[in-house]
Amino acid sequence: MKVALFAAVLVAFSGLASAAEPAAAKACMACHQVDKKVFGPMFKDVANKYKGDAKAEEHIVSVINNGSKGVWGTFAMPKQDIKPDDAKAIAKWIMSL
Ligand code: HEC
Repeated sequence: MKVALFAAVLVAFSGLASAAEPAAAKACMACHQVDKKVFGPMFKDVANKYKGDAKAEEHIVSVINNGSKGVWGTFAMPKQDIKPDDAKAIAKWIMSL
């Protein structure tokens, strides 16, 4: 219940951003931001890199499940413990940026 409520509030207040950030994406924000490079690449750069790629969302889901290294720089991304549905929602959101 609490999680659902939190998600609803998040959606309601994220109208200012380009698209609603899924609640599960909070886990990514320790290392990523939408429009600033932190430890990992900014999500807008990720969206640009895979724009037009029909497998983009699939690829991002696999990055979430398996981690990634050597694509953007010297740091590696550890695999994330995210539910499959949430991972899909996050992938969709990133590609909407
Ligand atoms: C501990 C830090 C950390 C966390 C937490 C993290 N990432 Fe990353 N992420 C990275 C780093 C570092 C890279 C660059 C890896 C590389 O160069 O291959 C990266 C790369 C990526 C890429 C680009 C991969 C590619 O093949 O181009 C995507 C997409 C991504 N992260 C999504 C996410 C999502 C979604 C989450 C949350 C579910 C998340 N990350 C959580 C550190 C993190």
